[in-house]
Formats: sequence, structure tokens, C-alpha cells
Amino acid sequence: MPPSALRIGLIGAGRMGTAHAGFIAREEETVLVGVADPFSSALAEAEGVPHFADHNALLDPDGATGLDAVIVANPNGAHVATALDCIAAGVPTLLEKPVAVDHAEAARLIAAEAASNVPVLVGHHRRHHPAATAARELISAGAIGRLVGVSGIWTTRKDDTYFDAAWRRKKGAGVMLINLVHDLDLMRHLCGEIVAVQAATSNAVRGHAVEDTASVVLTFADGALGSLLVSDAVVAPWGWDQATEDDPTYPYRPDTSCYSIAGTTGSLAFPQLAHYFHDGGAAGDWMRPLSLRYEPKGAGDSYTNQLRHFVRVARGECAPLVSIADAARTLAVVEAAGRAAASGRTEPVPA
Ligand SMILES: NC(=O)c1ccc[n+]([C@@H]2O[C@H](COP(=O)([O-])OP(=O)(O)OC[C@H]3O[C@@H](n4cnc5c(N)ncnc54)[C@H](O)[C@@H]3O)[C@@H](O)[C@H]2O)c1
Repeated sequence: MPPSALRIGLIGAGRMGTAHAGFIAREEETVLVGVADPFSSALAEAEGVPHFADHNALLDPDGATGLDAVIVANPNGAHVATALDCIAAGVPTLLEKPVAVDHAEAARLIAAEAASNVPVLVGHHRRHHPAATAARELISAGAIGRLVGVSGIWTTRKDDTYFDAAWRRKKGAGVMLINLVHDLDLMRHLCGEIVAVQAATSNAVRGHAVEDTASVVLTFADGALGSLLVSDAVVAPWGWDQATEDDPTYPYRPDTSCYSIAGTTGSLAFPQLAHYFHDGGAAGDWMRPLSLRYEPKGAGDSYTNQLRHFVRVARGECAPLVSIADAARTLAVVEAAGRAAASGRTEPVPA
């Protein structure tokens, strides 16, 4: 580890916190210097770093760790209060998604960040995937013509022990805030702002207070339409976690894609970047065979690329790719979907 490595503290030492500790250990430019978690010291002990029951002790600028930056991976409902403490302590922060559990909370964080010069990156890691970078460039360069529609799917069966943590069964969690939020964020990144939503939700399989399944219909600002189906209660291979090699915890299925992105002159299957089009460039019709080209993309996984980006953000070398305000906009879409599911009507997404 070079002496210049970014000294990172971790707040929240559960599944995601443990994953972040692994990403930090793999990177040359980062080192873990302390872990705060009120309920467990196991990760700190395993990593051989100091443990803090109170994250404010970890953040103390006069404390023993001498940290440069912090990653927050505690339960959703604690994000805003914790991030406010990080901003007050002047520590650059990578805050796990969702940025908050509702838009009013997120607004408090936006105001605190604006009044400080402390950078906060929100952990919508998918935007850092090389296929996301390449797809965004292809779409904005007109490679599939005018965007007409997008269809996405995230379906899997989470292990039952996942729901042993009570917070995952209650308001503030659910498949929309935990998983759909990622798909919606990437849709916004690839296809533009979402202005209206229709939705239906169900908790019929798991029977928790929060939904296990949701279906949403999206209208984008430029008139394109989209649909997403998400469920954590089905056995199926379709979704980001199986279609990418982002996290080895989830067996990789190279034959599945999670988004079909369709335009007037072509379409893209994601993340393979299988590009379908008619030779000659003009729009053909359904009786003409389609050509297929696999578009090039860069290397690396989302989490590693996100961590490398965070190092640059913490050093003041670039602005966060996902700001609090940007992530709050994604949260506003999730909230609009919740309202639409309750009302049965199309709900606008407030600007
Ligand atoms: N980016 C991703 O792909 C991704 C994936 C999974 C989870 N997450 C997010 O990461 C966060 C953590 O999820 P998880 O699955 O690791 O949950 P988890 O329940 O496994 O872990 C949460 C940890 O936080 C600790 N904790 C509780 N209150 C705390 C507090 N006030 N301060 C510090 N620690 C506290 C708990 O003891 C636990 O160890 C959630 O916000 C979740 O949405 C993101």
C-alpha cells in the first residue's frame, strides 16, 4: 500500500459494509482504518482495525485513525442522520443508496451539502459499470436512433435469512427502495429524466409489511416509454446481479440480459451490448434480417470503478458522478411509484 493511499473509515459492518471492506483491501490506493457499528465488532476484528460503537468517534478529526474519507453502509433509515454527521465533521463520504427513505429527508441532506464543501457520492454503483458508460455514449450518439422504449427486469429469490434483519421487512426497505431504486437510477442515467409513473406492487409471497414484487411503467421526458418488473421472491435468472459479474456472490449467467433498449434504427441488449440494426443505416422492417454487432466496452466491475472514482472525489479531483441531488431525483421516482401503486393513477414525478 503506497503512503498516499486514501485512509477510509467504514460505518455499518453488515453485508454491504463487509463487501466494501473487501473492495478497499483489493485496491492499492485505499486502506481501511476503522469500522463503526453499534452492534458488531466482528468486521473490525477480522480486518485488524479499531472498532467504534459510535460513528462520531470514528469521524473525530483528532481521533486515532486519521481518516481521509468514510463509507456509510448502515440501514436505510440511518443514512441521512449519519451523512449529516459526516458532513459536519468535514469528511468526504460515499453514502450507500438509497440516499434517504423519503424526499423530505433527502432535502435536508441536499441543504447541508450545499452549505458545506464536503463532497458526497451516493452508491448507485451501476453507473460505474463499463457497459453503462458505453451504452450511455451509444444512446446519446444516436446509435439506435430516437429512443422509443426500454424494458427492464430484476427477478431473483433472496435467501430467507436476508430477512432476519428486521429493518428489511419494514417501511423504509422493500424491493422498490432496495433494488428497483438501482434500476430506476440506471434508467435515468441511460435514457433521461422520468416524468411520470404508473405502478402495481404486491407482498403476496413473503407477506412482509413491504412489497416483494413491483411492476412500473415509466414516461421519460422526451416521450420514450419504459417498463420494469422487480421481485425478490421468484426463482429466475433475469436481473443485474446475474447478468453482470459485479458481485461473485451471485452466480453469473452470461446468457441473460437485464435491459432491452429500443430505438427507431436499432436496439441494445444490456449488459452484453448486443446491438441489433439493419445494414445500410436506415430503419428496415420486421421482414428484413437484423444484423448483430457486440459493441466494445471498458474493463472492471462497478464497485471497483466506483471506489476509484470515490478516491478522486475525496481528493477534490472531480465532482461526484452521483450527487445527493441526483440520487434524490431517483428517490422521487420510487416515491411516485409508491403513490401510483396506492392510487391506481399515473403519478407525476415532481421536478
Ligand atoms: N449498492 C449496493 O449494491 C447495495 C447492496 C446491498 C446493500 N446496500 C445498502 O447498504 C446498506 C446496508 O445494507 P446491508 O445489506 O449491509 O444491511 P445489514 O443489515 O447487513 O448491515 C447493516 C449494518 O449496520 C449496522 N448498524 C445499524 N445501525 C447502525 C448505525 N446507526 N450506525 C452504524 N451501523 C449501524 C448493523 O449492526 C449492521 O451491521 C443499506 O442502505 C442497503 O440499501 C447497497
